[in-house]
Amino acid sequence: MFITYTAFLDSTAKEALTPLLPPEGTVNAIETTDSFGEFAEKEPGEPCNVVFCGGENSEIEANELGQTFRMIFPNTKIFYLSSKSEKFKREEMIKNGFDDAFLLPLDTDEVKSAIEVIRSTTNEKTQSYRSVKLFDLSPGEKLDFDIYLHLPANNKYIKYVGAGGEISDDQYGRLKNNQVNSAHVQLDELPKFYNYSAKRLKALTGQEGALSETERQEKVKTAVRGIFLRIFDDSNASMGEGKALVDDAKGIIDQYVKDSPFKELYEKITSQISDSKTNYSHTLNVSIYASLFSIATGLGKPEELSIAGLLHDLGELSIPDAIKQKRYQDMSFEEKSIYEAQIDDTIKIIRERKIVIPQSAFKAIEQHQERFDGSGFPKGIKGKVMCVEAQILGLADEFDNLTLAKSGRKSMLPHEVIEMFSEAKKFSPEVLEPLKEIFPKPE
Ligand SMILES: [Fe+2]
Repeated sequence: MFITYTAFLDSTAKEALTPLLPPEGTVNAIETTDSFGEFAEKEPGEPCNVVFCGGENSEIEANELGQTFRMIFPNTKIFYLSSKSEKFKREEMIKNGFDDAFLLPLDTDEVKSAIEVIRSTTNEKTQSYRSVKLFDLSPGEKLDFDIYLHLPANNKYIKYVGAGGEISDDQYGRLKNNQVNSAHVQLDELPKFYNYSAKRLKALTGQEGALSETERQEKVKTAVRGIFLRIFDDSNASMGEGKALVDDAKGIIDQYVKDSPFKELYEKITSQISDSKTNYSHTLNVSIYASLFSIATGLGKPEELSIAGLLHDLGELSIPDAIKQKRYQDMSFEEKSIYEAQIDDTIKIIRERKIVIPQSAFKAIEQHQERFDGSGFPKGIKGKVMCVEAQILGLADEFDNLTLAKSGRKSMLPHEVIEMFSEAKKFSPEVLEPLKEIFPKPE
C-alpha cells in the first residue's frame, strides 16, 4: 500500500519537503488559496495518510489551516512546516490541532522519521520480511530464527532453515552457486537476528578462538563491511527501507553494547537524549559509526565509543542555528569562538548531570574536534597527542555529516569521505588505512 499525501505549502516549504518524501507516494497538492477553498468544501476529502501544510505566503492563518484539515481528515496526521524561525512556535501549533510542527531545514531528520513512522504503519501488513545478506549468516552456526528465501516469480517466501537449525555448508554453497546473495528474516524475529549478529561480532572481536590473527581481522572487516553495505550500498532501497537498514545497524550495535558492563549507562543516556530535542538521529548515527569504526580498526573500545557518540554534541544545543548551518571555514572569528565553546559546554553538561562515563569516552568527546594535522579546535593539538578514541569519534561525526544529504549540499559516498580525509591527513593512517578496506573504491 502506498502513502498518499495532501499538501498545501508555499514554494519554499514544498522544495524542502519534496526530497524527503518516499518516491512511491502520491501527492495531492493544493497549490492556491482558491483551490484550498474548493478542497475544503468537498468534504469529506479523499482518504490520505498524512497532511502537510504551512508556508509563509499563504493568506490563510496557520490555525485556520489546521482546523480545516482536521475537520476533513479527523484521523490523519497533520503536520505544519515552516522555514521561518522567527514565527515558529511549535507548542502553539500542537495546541492548535497539529500533530507536530517542524522548522525546515533544521528539523529535516524529524520530518523523515515522522514520515517513516507513517510509512511503516501503512506498510505493516505487506512488509513482514526483511532481507539479510548471505554473509550476515555463517554456515554451521545454530540459528534461533527462521530463514526464508524469496521466490520472485510468484512473490512467495519459503522457509529454508527453521529456528534451532543451522545452514549447512552444502546449503550455503548452493545459494552462492545460484547467486542468491540474500535471505529473509521475519520482521518480528529481527531482534533475534540483531542478537545473533552482535554475538558473532563480539566473538570475532574477542581474543579467544581458533582463528589466526589475520583470519580474525579479515572476518571482522567482512562483518563490519556487511553492516555498512546494509546502510549505504543498497541502491534498490527506497528512503524508507534505507532508514530501516540504519535501524538494523543500530539494532546490532544496541545488542553489542547491551551485552557489556555499559548496558545501564547506555540505556540511561539513550532515554535521556531521546527526550531532549537534540539532533537525535545524528547522535545515534555517530554512536553507531564510532563503534563500528572501533571494531573494524581494533582501536579503542566499541562500547565506550558508542557512549561518547551519544554524548558528543550535548553542547551544540546552545549554538544559534545560523552559525551551526555554516561550514566551519566560512565562520567569522566571533562565530568560530561561539562554535568552539561547544566542547566546554558539552563537558559542563556531562559534569552537571553527573553522568559518569569511562575516561576514554570523556577524552574522545573533549578532543573530537581536534585534527591529526593540528587544524582542529579548541586546542589545535596535533598528531598522537590527539587520542585514538577522539580520532574515531571525530571521523564518525564528519562521516555522518558528509554522507547525509543536507540542504543544498550533495552527500558524499563513504569511500570518498575516507579518501578525502586521508589525502588531507586529517586523521592518522592507523585509523584511515583499515577503513579503506571497509569502503573500497568501486572498480
Ligand atoms: Fe556531531
